[in-house]
Amino acid sequence: MEPEKIDVLPSTALAYLDRNYWDKRFAQEEHYEWFKDYSHFRDIVLQHIKPKSSVLELGCGNSQLCEELYRDGITQLTCIDLSPIAVHKMQQRLLNKGYKGIKVLEADMLGLPFEDGCFDVVIEKGTMDVLFVDSGDPWNPHPVTGEGDEDAHEIHRVLKPEGIFISITFGQPHFRRQFFSHPEFTWSVEWNTFGETFHYFLYILKKGQRSLESKDCEKTLMPSISLYHDELEGEDYLFRTNLDEMES
Ligand SMILES: C[S@@+](CC[C@H](N)C(=O)[O-])C[C@H]1O[C@@H](n2cnc3c(N)ncnc32)[C@H](O)[C@@H]1O
Repeated sequence: MEPEKIDVLPSTALAYLDRNYWDKRFAQEEHYEWFKDYSHFRDIVLQHIKPKSSVLELGCGNSQLCEELYRDGITQLTCIDLSPIAVHKMQQRLLNKGYKGIKVLEADMLGLPFEDGCFDVVIEKGTMDVLFVDSGDPWNPHPVTGEGDEDAHEIHRVLKPEGIFISITFGQPHFRRQFFSHPEFTWSVEWNTFGETFHYFLYILKKGQRSLESKDCEKTLMPSISLYHDELEGEDYLFRTNLDEMES
């Protein structure tokens, strides 16, 4: 029998800001991995997450990231998502597969239901990017949006004093730095790139490591990256392209 055809692509990237869009999508879709899967950045991530680390994943959706981390021995995992459908389906999936102890909660990353300083690591893949789909030309976005700022503050707050935030994103350094470099933040900021023709960014922010004279540094030698729309695959293209803005 032919698999049921599902249509989860929105007509504009602005739909990613709508929680109803995500509910509808997750009701139909069992698995979609935004950007790249774990195998592409596993080596970098495992340098920073230890088996005893308590880890919070923001916006898990129906990704397999938490399962992959668990298989690598990182078992103190909490996942959150704004979509109750994503949360319910993730809970069922983990139960069926026998991944015991991974907590999955419905929560908003802009108001995390956790006390200050309770996670060793916070990780997100493509979740903060959702906050920026209305920031105009993706190659030259508007400056600071309030929600990006709010989110960074929440993440900084729930990290332990020497905790680490790992952000896997399209967001280029010239844009992301403004959210990560608030004077109140004590974290240092570094980044790596991965991917073949199109480069994704993997930021590592180490709380308590910011020094006055330290400059943000780039771990890999980053080629001058030309970000052409046609280098993006499938839905990544839409995610990074605000069609409404382009058409107006
Ligand atoms: C682009 S998807 C990324 C999903 C997953 N991290 C991955 O890598 O495949 C964005 C996810 O963020 C969730 N999300 C959107 N806004 C959120 C918010 N304010 N708080 C928590 N999750 C949110 C969506 O429901 C969706 O699951």
